[in-house]
Amino acid sequence: MKILGISAHFHDSAAAMVIDGVPVCAVQEERLSRKKGDADFPLASISWCLDRANVQPEELDAVVFYERPMLKFDRILTCALRAFPRSWRAFPQAMKNSLGEKIWIRGVITSHLGVPAKKILFTEHHQSHAAAAFLTAPARRAAILTTDGVGEWATMTVGIGERRDDGTTSINLLREIRFPHSLGMLYSTFTAYLGFRVNEDEYKVMGLASYGTPSLVDRVQRVIHRTPDGAFELDLDYFDFHTTSKRSYSQRFIDLFGPPREHYEPIDLTTPEGQRYADIAASVQRVLEDTLVDITRALQKETGLTDLCIGGGVALNGVANARILGESGFERLFVPPAPGDAGCAMGAALYADRIHFRNRDCDVPDHPFWGPPVQGSDLARIAHEDGQDVVDLDERTLLEKTADDLLAGRIVGWMDGAMEFGPRALGHRSILAAPHRAEMRDRLNREIKYREQFRPFAPVVPIEVADRYFELPRGGARLARFMSGVFPVRPEWREKLAAVTHVDGTARVQALEREMAPRLYSLLEEYGRRSGVPVLLNTSLNLAGEPIVNRAAEGYSTFMRSGIDVLIADRTRVTKRAASSGVVRASGAPLSSGAPEARTTPHTKEASFCSRNAERFNAE
Ligand SMILES: [Fe+2]
Repeated sequence: MKILGISAHFHDSAAAMVIDGVPVCAVQEERLSRKKGDADFPLASISWCLDRANVQPEELDAVVFYERPMLKFDRILTCALRAFPRSWRAFPQAMKNSLGEKIWIRGVITSHLGVPAKKILFTEHHQSHAAAAFLTAPARRAAILTTDGVGEWATMTVGIGERRDDGTTSINLLREIRFPHSLGMLYSTFTAYLGFRVNEDEYKVMGLASYGTPSLVDRVQRVIHRTPDGAFELDLDYFDFHTTSKRSYSQRFIDLFGPPREHYEPIDLTTPEGQRYADIAASVQRVLEDTLVDITRALQKETGLTDLCIGGGVALNGVANARILGESGFERLFVPPAPGDAGCAMGAALYADRIHFRNRDCDVPDHPFWGPPVQGSDLARIAHEDGQDVVDLDERTLLEKTADDLLAGRIVGWMDGAMEFGPRALGHRSILAAPHRAEMRDRLNREIKYREQFRPFAPVVPIEVADRYFELPRGGARLARFMSGVFPVRPEWREKLAAVTHVDGTARVQALEREMAPRLYSLLEEYGRRSGVPVLLNTSLNLAGEPIVNRAAEGYSTFMRSGIDVLIADRTRVTKRAASSGVVRASGAPLSSGAPEARTTPHTKEASFCSRNAERFNAE
């Protein structure tokens, strides 16, 4: 049976193909259109999935949309009526923002794909999240928590998933919390208040939280109350997101927390104002964690299960995930590589396969690499035409040379095989670097990511030795498989892993199994033989504001526009010819001995401007 899953029209559109119960491919539209967070109907993704799976649209047994547009319409209309007359101006805009052409989705799919209307199915938004989390996890029976901003009405669900020996599957969502009461909307409201972009920059709030103290928890608790049944509700007097599309917080919210931060205003942590922002971030983060821990602890007691699968955008909060693992009573936590709305494309297709069509249960490969593959020959051709130094190497030489590069302080762009599905680079579209010195973190921020100095970078380590460097609790390595948990770096290693240790001594570590990304695993081994520490800094291969690189051409463009020293795709290795790389000496501290001169692009001016603001947590 051939099933195409689609998510679209909110943020991060995507398509996924499931054939005979197993995912074949999946990709986010932004990776193909090169528009970050692209929310358009994912025509390019659908077309790529059909090509990749060698399926004609008429061969599809079903096309599954990841939510029910009419239910969403019902929610928006109801909220507008409740808030009338305050909402009458905002209603048309809310309709446009939230629905767009979604409400006509059956017609859109029919007209684009020529699929008859009867083959178009709809799952509920949180069913898609639940399926993406549970049906991709190596768990037979598990509790399920989904938590996000909002789908149709639900903003959080709890339930149980079961894959039985007779081949049947069930996903029973037991309870839900409904809009406007939403942990995702709470966090997004603080994201907006702190001057960051909603649905994009929530992770910046989490990063900023590490610089603050949760001294304003009591104030946050005034805007979100716990209810006697263990749920929560927002005090809507503090919010406006349910009545207007202009601003998510109300004047009363400002009265409580003080003036909001403008997005262009730097966060200077040496000033009381900068510290206030950090304290607010720390406080909302703490309340989010406490709420999730309470809810999952109750769920564990209720179900008596040992495994928990978490889906929805809030599952990207690695600090909260680590606390849930440590405090809920669940022994294993499964967060899929794409827990947000993009992952709903795959969730919707799997839900239709197992639940709607009642097809026999089967295991889903436990990796994130469902996207387009990269070709070394493409990179070789482009780089050669552009006059760069290109060599094709055998595998052993390539790994040795790359380990030498990393040891010498060079920054490596690493493209290997199929692209990741989901927001994190997990070893196929990565920038790799030595993790030992803070100067490397600063250089990456200056010359490649062009972002604030204090944002943390993540480490990758072979799973067998992860515990030597990081304090992973029971189940922690599983959570670290897709970088879904933040854990302490062992104190004795913090100095030696300075580039990947956050200010609070933690890291969002990836614990890598050989079979998931064998080439990166071998590179870690090779690097470990040279340095004594098989850990590398691993960040996504993209520049600020751009989606993660997909094809060789985009990798090459990123390489040429940044301070990346070496670019690898498959077995092709490219370095910059001095004349084309604008070689200048970096303004930062010298690299380790034997390092080449640091190479930067003309972005060096901005780089030195950033480095002078080293005391600031600058959001933009
Ligand atoms: Fe969602």
